[in-house]
Amino acid sequence: MFITFEGIEGSGKSTQRQLLSDYLTRQGIDHVLTQEPGGTELGVHLRQLSRDSRLTTNRSELFLFAADRTEHVHQVIAPAIAAGRWVICDRYIDSTYAYQYGGRQHSESDIRAIIELTQAVEPDLTFFLDVSVDEGLRRASKRGALDRFEHETHDFHERVRRAYRACVHMHAHRFIAIDAENRSPDTIFTDIKQHILERKAGCI
Ligand code: ADP
Ligand code: TYD
Repeated sequence: MFITFEGIEGSGKSTQRQLLSDYLTRQGIDHVLTQEPGGTELGVHLRQLSRDSRLTTNRSELFLFAADRTEHVHQVIAPAIAAGRWVICDRYIDSTYAYQYGGRQHSESDIRAIIELTQAVEPDLTFFLDVSVDEGLRRASKRGALDRFEHETHDFHERVRRAYRACVHMHAHRFIAIDAENRSPDTIFTDIKQHILERKAGCI
């Protein structure tokens, strides 16, 4: 299975991806745990560049994420799937939709086109961890210094959240919205595990 985690900053993606990876390890399920941006050696540099204060246009930022994804799909995701391994990815195509269309307000058709150009494989399941902007940013700022996106306005993050909510309807076959506010990581993970087991049973 190819599973992705999506959500605004501080929604709990890293926490849940780790809980899932630990669970799969206990079950003896061979998997790759990865992330965007920065899922390849080159991607680590591209991630760094995407935060560089010398970037002057949102358009070049978009191309950096697209380059990162193209390499990631080619080097990591597609080979792992071909080898029959599970892939767990923290952020993927829906981050581009939510941040570059929702947040940065590029045109929707440009964003769809660029996602298409990266030849991204569609995930089987995408968990959208839904928290309010106030709660997400509060958690993210507790975690450490805020980055380029975390410094964006409240309205920017509201637009990102709204775009994610639109994804839940547009891609209902793979998207699952999880209430990630006022619930412990373990409770949230119990939900996630249940959805995965149901989906897995449906595939057999
Ligand atoms: P993301 O990867 O989405 O930015 P993280 O998993 O890094 O989010 O979580 C951000 C912060 O919030 C971390 O300090 C983490 O321990 C904490 N956290 C994660 N899940 C929850 C939760 N369900 N309730 C409260 N705090 C949480
Ligand atoms: P990072 O610190 O790697 O992730 P997180 O904040 O989730 O722990 O930051 C990556 C940032 O890049 C995040 O703010 C979302 C943004 N992003 C995009 O704008 N478009 C994309 O396509 C991707 C993959 C990420």
